[in-house]
Amino acid sequence: MAIIKSLVFAVLLTASTALPPVAVGNTVQKGTASLTQVHNPKFVRNGPLELERTLRKYGAPVPHDLKAAVKRVRRARNQKRAESEGADDDDDDDDENDRGSVQNSPKSYDVEYLMPVSLGTPAQQLNLDLDTGSSDFWVFSTLLKESMINGQTLYDPNASTTADKMEGYSWKITYGDQSYSSGDVYVDTVTIGDLTVSTQAVEAAREVSEEFTADSDNDGLVGLGFGIINTVMPYKQKTFFEKAMPGLDSPVFTADLKSGAPGRYNFGYIDDGAYTGNITYVPVNSSDGFWSWVSPGFQVGTTGSFNSTRIHGIADTGTTLLLLPEGVCEAFYGRIASAKYDASQGGYTFECNDSTTPDFYFGTGNGQMIRIPGSYLAYSKTDTSSLRCFGGMQSDSGVGFTIWGDIALKAAFIVFDQGSERLGWAEKSLY
Ligand SMILES: *[C@@H]1O[C@H](CO)[C@@H](O)[C@H](O)[C@H]1NC(C)=O
Ligand SMILES: *[C@@H]1O[C@H](CO)[C@@H](O)[C@H](O)[C@H]1NC(C)=O
Ligand SMILES: *[C@@H]1O[C@H](CO)[C@@H](O)[C@H](O)[C@H]1NC(C)=O
Ligand SMILES: *[C@@H]1O[C@H](CO)[C@@H](O)[C@H](O)[C@H]1NC(C)=O
Ligand SMILES: *[C@@H]1O[C@H](CO)[C@@H](O)[C@H](O)[C@H]1NC(C)=O
Repeated sequence: MAIIKSLVFAVLLTASTALPPVAVGNTVQKGTASLTQVHNPKFVRNGPLELERTLRKYGAPVPHDLKAAVKRVRRARNQKRAESEGADDDDDDDDENDRGSVQNSPKSYDVEYLMPVSLGTPAQQLNLDLDTGSSDFWVFSTLLKESMINGQTLYDPNASTTADKMEGYSWKITYGDQSYSSGDVYVDTVTIGDLTVSTQAVEAAREVSEEFTADSDNDGLVGLGFGIINTVMPYKQKTFFEKAMPGLDSPVFTADLKSGAPGRYNFGYIDDGAYTGNITYVPVNSSDGFWSWVSPGFQVGTTGSFNSTRIHGIADTGTTLLLLPEGVCEAFYGRIASAKYDASQGGYTFECNDSTTPDFYFGTGNGQMIRIPGSYLAYSKTDTSSLRCFGGMQSDSGVGFTIWGDIALKAAFIVFDQGSERLGWAEKSLY
């Protein structure tokens, strides 16, 4: 975390009292904030690990092929670390998962871009992942045993004069069959950009499973789903955005994620300069706690025709890949000459520079389609010497619904309108 912390945080502040009110869409800004992600220098892309992490997040079974692929990746990484340390690492046995956790994890591999967040008084700076696919605000904390920490920055409620323990409260998130995190709950001041919530329920981890310790280079999550799936017991707590909403000019936040560059989140307003054309709003069904919506269909390439098949899915900034129904994956990869389902990777792969790779379009509503450039879909090299890439689009079978992760979200400007429970989609210039 030291490297990240030394970066200059590109936090853009708006609506400072020194500035005159700015008219945005007929209203005047009161509470608004805009902030830019920071790049995680430790991040290394890996398709199978991302896919496995997503399946675990949604409690879906991890297929055998993928399990084996992930095991190979972890082994290779541990071996590499051992070599670079000049250690005599005999890693040909099968137990690397048992010992290949905490200290053995040479690189972390989960979040490419993080958000600097201030907790407590005086401010403790943590780098958190803004996740519209969950609703807990949880952080690595000083309550954790040393063995459960792997370089994360810890929230120390004892060092915050504004922290208050919520006696009798606890939380627990279970990801899939075995990974989980749990702990105590504090109320404290939280600031993201210049947006401050003075009584946020901060879930301080007391226990995290091996997967979280090893695979997390972030210090925690800011859940931006709906509070209905918050895990605090005995009473669910509001998300950061639900707490901030009453003070905002408009009950919305927007995501403008980018390919190969830090993205930007705005709170409380819509920046009309950040997108092109019109914003198309689609209704959201929040009853499962997610930003769940229905896409009217898809198209593969400019020469294809629009396939009107309703795609039920969620917009999830906390997931990297795009998980779509198997039939949609087949339609897409069927158009790439070198594409195949690759059992050794546990997913679809194709030649990274295959010139037959088409763009992928998804419908939102009112005839609008968002174009995902084909280049976004070559996610990561299958290994350093390979010319093949793990596809950014993979099957959602097992999850039961589509997950519009970052690969899709990067192609659009998205309005998360919690006030009206709807999502707004707009095109933007991609570069
Ligand atoms: C706060 O300090 C007390 C007393 O030293 C200790 O028992 C407790 O575990 C600390 N809490 C945290 C969250 O570190
Ligand atoms: C945007 O919406 C307006 C009003 O519905 C319409 O007249 C205009 O053509 C739309 N623009 C684009 C680029 O779709
Ligand atoms: C919203 O989702 C829930 C759970 O998936 C479902 O039971 C309900 O019918 C949906 N509501 C609408 C209006 O589609
Ligand atoms: C549309 O896509 C579905 C997969 O979701 C596929 O089963 C169907 O055959 C496609 N229809 C056409 C006309 O291509
Ligand atoms: C991809 O690149 C490799 C070497 O960089 C080259 O041999 C191959 O022909 C390229 N394939 C395509 C489809 O351009």
